[in-house]
Amino acid sequence: MVILKTITANQKGLKGDIRVPGDKSISHRSIMLASLANGQTRINNFLNSEDSMRTVEAFKALGVKIEMDHTSVLVQSAGWQRFKAPQNHLYMGNSGTTLRLISGILSGLPFETKLTGDESLSKRPMKRVIRPLKEMGSTIESNDDMLPITIRGGGLTPIEYHLPVDSAQVKSAILLAGLMTTGKTTVIERHPTRDHTERMLPLFNGNIDKDSNHISIDGPQKLVGTTINIPGDISSASFWITGAVITPNSHIVLRNVGLNPTRTGLISVLKRMGANIRTEITRYEGEEPVGDIYVQYSKLYRTELYQEEVASLIDEVPLLALIATQSEGNMYINHIEELKYKESNRVKAIVDMLKALNANVEEVEDGIFIEGKSRLQGNYINTYHDHRVAMVASIASLITDGAVTLSDGDCVNISYPSFYKELYRYSN
Ligand code: S3P
Repeated sequence: MVILKTITANQKGLKGDIRVPGDKSISHRSIMLASLANGQTRINNFLNSEDSMRTVEAFKALGVKIEMDHTSVLVQSAGWQRFKAPQNHLYMGNSGTTLRLISGILSGLPFETKLTGDESLSKRPMKRVIRPLKEMGSTIESNDDMLPITIRGGGLTPIEYHLPVDSAQVKSAILLAGLMTTGKTTVIERHPTRDHTERMLPLFNGNIDKDSNHISIDGPQKLVGTTINIPGDISSASFWITGAVITPNSHIVLRNVGLNPTRTGLISVLKRMGANIRTEITRYEGEEPVGDIYVQYSKLYRTELYQEEVASLIDEVPLLALIATQSEGNMYINHIEELKYKESNRVKAIVDMLKALNANVEEVEDGIFIEGKSRLQGNYINTYHDHRVAMVASIASLITDGAVTLSDGDCVNISYPSFYKELYRYSN
């Protein structure tokens, strides 16, 4: 059922000490590596959301014992060699990360699995993972390089693969297949993408080598269960960061947030724009830096987005577009072709949203043109069932004259189920 959601914010600014849920990318990977490992793994601060539950359900179907209590998870596994063929197809819901990464894992396993997903996921490109996995020897049937796909894996040979897109999902799929393959599999990146898989593997006694942009894994490897403490999600924190920099009278602190440099692109760009934002690394969880982010309302100036930094804020581009409407000067956000292949066509979704809110924006080749600085007005917003679009529009309501109504409010459950509750709490 689609739930309309109307948000009338009172424009007093965001205030408070905010804690965001566990990182989504790290949550998926923690279940995957814990399932591949032998023995018991405890996961703390797991993201309990629709997307991450798809990963939990998928590995249960492969025979792994997984128990959950809110955000604590206990995984008990006999290792990937003991996975069994699932009774039914595996349903991936809306989760691109589950789908792409598990395709790598299933390619290492000698049985057949069919993968399906919701309407949006069924339109997303899979060729980017199918191609390298087939090159390794996996047998994959698909619907014109989209879901449903059927994978029969096992008996792989290692490859050296130049990533044609800046995608951590593709990189991780190949590395996970490489973990189960005899010999050395290497992925070569054009620009750095999130490296949570690489940083997490040593915690499970795994070995991975990084030499500038070459990442290599020597397989097959036996992983051992461990404890994983998941930091808060910087992508979820970015909604509050954005709300604070664009809304007068805001000052917030975000605690316990993952500050992995492959994820903090929005903070770097905001600093260039003049934002009053400061980060402090307070500890490491394994190899992941974790800390606090201090943010205040700021006078912002236009900047440009460089190609090599796009991957470090790929999920935050819709927020950057909203920020650009509140900055002095006109701004082009370029190099964002990849956004067309996310949970929705986010280039179109952002342009439609900002136009509806009375901003002057245009889709241009390879990006979006945004005029600054505009006074935004509330309106009806088509979220295209995309969780991030719904949350960006909700954050915009902090500064709009009049209410923002979302075509589908429930889609935030994909990554941030408590989002509206927190929005009310920190803006009142
Ligand atoms: C993710 C990688 C990114 C990102 C997605 C999560 C991951 O996708 O957009 O939300 O956890 O590896 P791509 O690697 O396809 O760009």
